[in-house]
Amino acid sequence: MDARHHPLSEEQLARLRRRLGERLIVLIGMMGAGKTSIGRRLANILSLPFLDADSEIEKAANLSISEIFEHYGETHFREGEERVIARLLSGGPAVLATGGGAFMSEATRQACGDMGITVWLKADVPVMLERVRKKGNRPLLKGADPEGTMRALLKEREPIYALADIVIASREAPHQVVVSDILTALQAHLHQGATA
Ligand code: S3P
Repeated sequence: MDARHHPLSEEQLARLRRRLGERLIVLIGMMGAGKTSIGRRLANILSLPFLDADSEIEKAANLSISEIFEHYGETHFREGEERVIARLLSGGPAVLATGGGAFMSEATRQACGDMGITVWLKADVPVMLERVRKKGNRPLLKGADPEGTMRALLKEREPIYALADIVIASREAPHQVVVSDILTALQAHLHQGATA
């Protein structure tokens, strides 16, 4: 189904995978930016495994993210997040969706830079808020003013997210449009300096 809705031919996709080599495509950005659903589609089109860091953390801990925050606190969560992402980055080519705070860790940024191509999915606050509101499973936004919290987090994180290799506007457009934008940007990025 997805195959009809993106700009690259099979040959171009194969070349993209070749140029990616052992690297991963690492999606970063705020909660509600669409990293998981967009990442899954992107992986599907590229015939690569899809990895979701939050799910892997939950599996490793046998607890939900909310439970980890509640029982052990954010610092503990962040340590686990660093370890899990380091492990996922060493597992070969894949599309990896990271949690919104992951890229704030210098160690994770370094590892992502070494092993992956980083893509910041940049979305507007109302779009992200609407998406997270539907699920209600983000411990950081459980307070009285989720919008204020999100804006404050964004202000702190934006300059760091901006270090990504590629920046993509994750608009309210259908996900397939955003996926197409990523594919086009990846192709251009991987083409730079490539010879084959
Ligand atoms: C967080 C984002 C969440 C999850 C945790 C903390 C953050 O992931 O890792 O609730 O600090 O922004 P998503 O970005 O997938 O929602």
